[in-house]
Amino acid sequence: MEVIAAPQAFRAAANLARARGAQVGFVPTMGALHEGHLSILRRARVETDHLAMSIFVNPLQFGPREDLAAYPRPMQRDLELAADVGCDVVFAPTESEMYPDGRPDVTLDAGPLGERLEGAIRPVHFRGVLTVVTKLLHLVGPSRAYFGEKDAQQLALVRRMVKQLDFPIEVVGCATVRDADGLALSSRNAALTSDERRAALSLSQALRTAEVLSAAGERSLEVLVGVMRERIELEPLARLDYATVVDDRTWDEPDPVRQPARAVVAARFGSTRLIDNALLPEG
Ligand code: PAJ
Repeated sequence: MEVIAAPQAFRAAANLARARGAQVGFVPTMGALHEGHLSILRRARVETDHLAMSIFVNPLQFGPREDLAAYPRPMQRDLELAADVGCDVVFAPTESEMYPDGRPDVTLDAGPLGERLEGAIRPVHFRGVLTVVTKLLHLVGPSRAYFGEKDAQQLALVRRMVKQLDFPIEVVGCATVRDADGLALSSRNAALTSDERRAALSLSQALRTAEVLSAAGERSLEVLVGVMRERIELEPLARLDYATVVDDRTWDEPDPVRQPARAVVAARFGSTRLIDNALLPEG
């Protein structure tokens, strides 16, 4: 496995692989790898010939009061895990290698969906995500790029960007990996106290309640949102940011809800902010 820090060397490695006839697979990450990341890497390993992953904690996508400095960076362990799953290349630039002119002043506007839900609470977030994803995809070139459904709004925005701006990329969405009790895996879970972790189960349980009601034919946005809010607000340690149901194609919030419908939730537990979502089954 090659570990590359220089952007042009990363580009050259992908170009060389394509010149040899390989289908390139690319998995962008911020490191602190867990089973969610590894499941994506294993799938990409099977579906492509040359597997590239990036590890870069992108400062552009963190707000001034967010956890950039505290974000975990276990690089040695990440590289071992990457080698174990069979990565060919890990691109791990420093901030100055990624942004040699300093933080870019030319950035990608995520559009109206970038200002709602996660974007309403984290105003710079999706501009930062799409700007770094654009750079990474431009470096890796024509490829299949894998993203997790865990970050459903990010995945939706990356799909829009790639389609609307003609990136030569096939975007692949990958299922959310959860702990046995339902908590969606996240690099941020490590920061939870045991009480906070218990309270954080309210997110997946709220989604589960919405799934059960939806399967039974419930279509009222108000009812579905109500049961999710109620479950999360039952936890004294939870501070709810939002709970709603969107049309999975448009991300509107129609009432009655429209299929395919996705329930999305976000809440803070102490200083840790978590998100989760689930596609709602049709009744
Ligand atoms: P990061 O949070 O490290 O996540 C990297 C990829 O792993 C994302 O596509 C994310 O959706 C996916 N992922 C995270 N938790 C998952 C889980 N429990 N199950 C399945 N997939 C999961 O998302 C980012 O990094 C950054 O925003 C990035 C796209 C790298 C741009 O900086």
